[in-house]
Amino acid sequence: MDLTKKLSVIGVGPGSKKYITDYSKEVIKKSQFIIGYKYTLSTISHLIDESVQQVFEITMKNQEQVYLHVFENLMKDDDQCVVPFTGDVNFSESEVVDRLLDIYGDDNVEIISGISSIQIASAKSKVPLDKATIITFHITGDIEEKKLELVKSVTDKKSIILVPRPWPSNPSKNFMPSDISLFLKKNGLDTSKINVWVFENLTDDEKETLYKGKMDSLESKRFSDLSVMVIDQNMRQTYLDFKS
Ligand SMILES: C[S@@+](CC[C@H](N)C(=O)[O-])C[C@H]1O[C@@H](n2cnc3c(N)ncnc32)[C@H](O)[C@@H]1O
Repeated sequence: MDLTKKLSVIGVGPGSKKYITDYSKEVIKKSQFIIGYKYTLSTISHLIDESVQQVFEITMKNQEQVYLHVFENLMKDDDQCVVPFTGDVNFSESEVVDRLLDIYGDDNVEIISGISSIQIASAKSKVPLDKATIITFHITGDIEEKKLELVKSVTDKKSIILVPRPWPSNPSKNFMPSDISLFLKKNGLDTSKINVWVFENLTDDEKETLYKGKMDSLESKRFSDLSVMVIDQNMRQTYLDFKS
């Protein structure tokens, strides 16, 4: 038997217990350690039994220290740790996932997909993922290239599903829907003609909201940090369009 400290990084939510796969539930219940942010831990709180699992709530500030402490000091061979992420762990989470792969080693990590906020936004706007440019601005690093990709996609009449960048401690780094609207106008696009959706708190039955309008109307609008934007330039095409 392969006795090693194992890690599962799993996607849950994005905002509801209803969007957790049975497989993720199974993995959570079998684990000895769970490390996560407050919001994500609240999504799986009903699956945690603190007499079985040791739970660590982390922040951006102390995450490194906690990941190392659990891995180096608490876990025994054959123990299993779970780190839950919001939505799909394969979208806009790599800054943390890559660090966890460093600590545990690729062979000891299982990445378990969840359902992303961008998938839910795709479903609600009826803009298919495969016909859209998908962009996350929710990164710590530089976003200038991503901004150029956004302008190009809008100019090329593609749809875009994007996650904005909230930066509460330094608002000059925000790239929220109002910033995006002004940025596109500054880059010569006629924002009064571009259709847009903004979804907040997706899958949260009590808090979910939807705004639909033209891009220029977003200039003075404020949205929650938990929002996804869809620039809708979708042209529907069915198999009938391709019949010879
Ligand atoms: C670091 S990214 C993580 C994305 C996540 N892995 C996913 O697949 O949805 C965080 C951003 O995702 C978006 N997000 C996550 N959950 C959301 C929800 N329930 N409703 C709307 N947006 C959400 C927000 O834009 C949030 O700032």
